[in-house]
Amino acid sequence: MPRRKRSLVQNILEPPPQKLPSSLDPLPLEEEQRVEAPLRPLRLSEFIGQRRLTENLRVYIEAARSRNNALDHVLISGPPGLGKTTLAFILAEELGVQLHLAHAPAIEHRGQLAALLTRLGPRDVLFIDEIHRLSSVVEENLYTAMEDYRIDLVQGEGPMANVIRIPLSPFTLVGATTRTGLLTGPLLSRFGIELRLDYYDPQDLCQIVLRSASILGVAIDEKAAFEIARRSRGTPRIANRLLRRVRDFAQVLGNGRLDLPTTRQALERLDIDEAGLDEMSRRFLRVLIESYEGGPVGIDALAATLGEPRDTLEDVFEPYLLQSGFIARTSKGRIATRKAYEHLRISPPKKSQGSLF
Ligand SMILES: Nc1ncnc2c1ncn2[C@@H]1O[C@H](COP(=O)(O)OP(=O)(O)OP(=O)(O)O)[C@@H](O)[C@H]1O
Ligand SMILES: [Mg+2]
Repeated sequence: MPRRKRSLVQNILEPPPQKLPSSLDPLPLEEEQRVEAPLRPLRLSEFIGQRRLTENLRVYIEAARSRNNALDHVLISGPPGLGKTTLAFILAEELGVQLHLAHAPAIEHRGQLAALLTRLGPRDVLFIDEIHRLSSVVEENLYTAMEDYRIDLVQGEGPMANVIRIPLSPFTLVGATTRTGLLTGPLLSRFGIELRLDYYDPQDLCQIVLRSASILGVAIDEKAAFEIARRSRGTPRIANRLLRRVRDFAQVLGNGRLDLPTTRQALERLDIDEAGLDEMSRRFLRVLIESYEGGPVGIDALAATLGEPRDTLEDVFEPYLLQSGFIARTSKGRIATRKAYEHLRISPPKKSQGSLF
């Protein structure tokens, strides 16, 4: 099938949020959005890892294609940098339809939503990033669009009000979010397919590093690729970023080839420790242990002490620290686990803090 050109709804897109200056921050740096493009897999067969999810997705895509129907609406959730946007691009490509991109906070009123929806062709994909940030008015207007492929626009006011019903082409809404918990019940219930992305294991990340290295024309040993994978906090975006930084060191300090010693040396220079934690993640643990005696402590207090927005801590840093067992959440707040004390080489307190100790 001939490939159709993608139409990007540029005017609805907003610049990405402010970035943190850390090589392990999973949010895309501005320069990175450009360099990420060639590394982004375009087909499902190139998407590494998350096998159960991709196998199911393949079935849904094939079924929709063979029935010539729009694919059911899809919600993709997971921490930053795990492949949500990539999957949205892949979905449109595999369905052979056009992809339209929008950033939820930039859809400010119903008129903008209507403009977006009415330009969708049959079975097209509308990707709304950060869908948990839709305003309630826009969200409510999305319900009929998702359910019945129509929008109702009210003209005038009071008894003279007149409802104009606009039919839409059957389409697929793909919503992405780092925070499923912030989605309302009515919106959640309108997605027929839910895809949850998990942190990648080092084997899969190693494949991603090798694939990216070959696209970038970087000579790399498998052991070096695995070392980068192991220290990338389960996140493809971080793995690709570390690959690019390590390549810089290899070019300037070595012979350009990424072997294990050069890679280790470069990662040390980048201040990324054995567990893949960067300065900010270690500061998180240190503050929890030294300023709050290991907790429990609420996220707002931590955010104030660290001088970081609460959202950044909750979206970017906490999920990996939780998942890898450095912290735990209790009803009273966050606590540091024995693993965190051991990692920072701080002796744990004598008093027990529950079963985690
Ligand atoms: N499964 C994968 N296989 C290979 N590369 C991947 C995979 N997932 C992600 N990547 C790479 O990681 C980069 C970041 O992924 P992506 O932009 O899709 O993340 P995201 O979940 O949308 O992040 P955000 O929440 O910040 O929007 C992509 O450019 C791509 O190169
Ligand atoms: Mg994204």
